[in-house]
Amino acid sequence: MNSVFLNGDFIPASEAKISVMDRGFLFGDGIYEVIPVYNGQLFRLEQHLQRLHYCLKRIKLSVDWSMQQWQQMMEQLIAENGGGNLGLYLQVTRGFSEKRDHKFPQQISPTIFSMVNTLPSPKNIEDLKACKVMTIEDIRWKNCDIKSISLLGNVLLAQQAHESDDDEAILTNNGFATEGATSNLFIVEDGKIFTPKKDNRILGGITRDLVIELLESHGKTVFQEDISIERLNNAEEIWLTSSTKEIRPVVEINGNKVGDGKAGPVWNQAVTIYLDYKMKLYHGE
Ligand code: PDD
Repeated sequence: MNSVFLNGDFIPASEAKISVMDRGFLFGDGIYEVIPVYNGQLFRLEQHLQRLHYCLKRIKLSVDWSMQQWQQMMEQLIAENGGGNLGLYLQVTRGFSEKRDHKFPQQISPTIFSMVNTLPSPKNIEDLKACKVMTIEDIRWKNCDIKSISLLGNVLLAQQAHESDDDEAILTNNGFATEGATSNLFIVEDGKIFTPKKDNRILGGITRDLVIELLESHGKTVFQEDISIERLNNAEEIWLTSSTKEIRPVVEINGNKVGDGKAGPVWNQAVTIYLDYKMKLYHGE
């Protein structure tokens, strides 16, 4: 499994090369997507492509590819790699320029790169491992809604959590818990479900939106509002969502138990609905 897409060609990963003058390398000037592939099929593709276009617009990068062109490229890449359950990574940078200059060059064509990695697709609740987290003040920039490849802040936060033997960092911003270093945040209080609203402090996760959509279609309300650190620390349940994590229960925060220290009943309902939706779509079960 090592065929990648680079600027129009499907080639072995070992042969894929870009210039050191690429603005992605020099400035982190680009954006990315991570899209789950289950049974060879792209999951929530339309929503991921909408976010891709939103992010391209936010960084003023125009790429004249239609939705069909993105889809065709991704489907061919999946086929070249034998299908199955994968995480498809797509990166678009502003491209190569002869001179290092912060301002956008006049004539430049974007670098488009995509690759796949194996991604387990949990089928049962027991497959979704519970997490331990710590809270850390968010050190990132003020445009976290852009899925930027400049991930140094996220990298340092995730590493700090890892060095404390935690699975994820929950980020705090002026007294509020916003999201994880690599995931979105949900909490449960008095049986009610809350998640921070979408603004520039968080990445609008596709999994977050799907979880809200599925819960609401099952008659449950998800309240989208600011969540104070105090509320986070006292929550009955905490969950993390992402394309690679799906919905994970958090059982320990800063060394203290969340609820009774086990995955909670509301998470159980949410993940049952989520897995059911996924399995019906892609595994025909
Ligand atoms: N990260 N918030 C941040 C900071 C993230 O990096 C991610 C996902 C999410 C969840 O978004 P989604 O549900 O669309 O995956 C929220 C990906 C998986 C990554 O960087 O690998």
